[in-house]
Amino acid sequence: MSIEAQSRRGFLAGAASAAALTAFGTGGVSAVSAFATPSKRLVGPENLIPYGAAVRSDALAADPSYRDAVIANCQMVVPESELKWLELRPTRDEYRFAKADAIIDFARQNGIEVRGHTLAWYGALPPWTEEIATRTDAERELTDHIETVVSRYKGVIPSWDVINEPLVDWAESAASLRPSIWARRLGPDYLRIALETAAAVDPDAQLVINEYDVEFAGPRFAARRKALVELLRSLRDRGVPLHAVGLQAHLFADRTIDRDGLQALLAEIKALKLDVWVTELDVIDYELPGKIGERDALVAGVASRFLDAVCEVVRPKAILTWGLSDRYTWVPIYFKRRDGMPNRPLPLDAELKRKPLFDVIEEFRHKV
Ligand code: XIL
Repeated sequence: MSIEAQSRRGFLAGAASAAALTAFGTGGVSAVSAFATPSKRLVGPENLIPYGAAVRSDALAADPSYRDAVIANCQMVVPESELKWLELRPTRDEYRFAKADAIIDFARQNGIEVRGHTLAWYGALPPWTEEIATRTDAERELTDHIETVVSRYKGVIPSWDVINEPLVDWAESAASLRPSIWARRLGPDYLRIALETAAAVDPDAQLVINEYDVEFAGPRFAARRKALVELLRSLRDRGVPLHAVGLQAHLFADRTIDRDGLQALLAEIKALKLDVWVTELDVIDYELPGKIGERDALVAGVASRFLDAVCEVVRPKAILTWGLSDRYTWVPIYFKRRDGMPNRPLPLDAELKRKPLFDVIEEFRHKV
């Protein structure tokens, strides 16, 4: 079945409950009950891997053609920033849910599922979190946050990146945790605290540890794979609730995918009875040739090598890209091209036309 046909089905499924939900966009906290009705399974047919993308609330509101493209192509969305601490917690005493709610409202009206990103990360923290001075204070802030956010979206967000990017770039072991206010004040216990709190609030939620730079060839990446497995095993051995690993898959086109290394990692994850999600796929093309046809083909090739390695070992629960269209991508913030041409990391170009990367993802959605 084509993606259009599927999302029309999704749209119809969602439309039935849309009327009950439209009030949400104008409501405040009191309107949260609009979320309470669990949605039907909204993603595509069981035999296809759901496809999704990170989305931006401002662009959904301002850009109807982008909004339509999300509706036409995505069975799942994840707010790109709107559920991060920086957006939700501008001050210590305040929660601002309006932007996240706008995305959820949009998704539910259109029969699209939502993932949550992210609860415990070193990045996108508001400055006031630096004032968290003691272990007790840190534990209270982290648990309050997770309890508040996860309970608000219980039954609405079935899958959470509870932990994002736990390891340092040059990880030697599970102990090589990236410094953050959580790691500094709570040590490795912050992982357990975050996961247990999320599980206590929403026992049905799928709890994910999301990590990057685990697919490439080279000693740094091999060491990260080993450290990640060690970390996952230590959590499992201690009975800490955890259900899946997210492979971010920010694929640097100038690096080589280590097929064997990646597959060995996936086999270990499978042996630990954890699911796999592809959570943030895009292809970082800043070192690729400028010619667009050539570049798009190379980008598609990188993603194909990655997905082929993954899908031979596991069936990912979903494949999400970090953005849908080159019109809205984080890549140029860090990886601008020297020739001044725009980056082209995503499945749709800046005019919302499908690129070869789109077809690659579509192919692997069908494969398993
Ligand atoms: C990025 C967003 O795309 C940017 O808009 C934001 O300014 C910074 O964060 N890995 C992650 C994502 O887990 O949260 C990051 O998102 C991209 C890298």
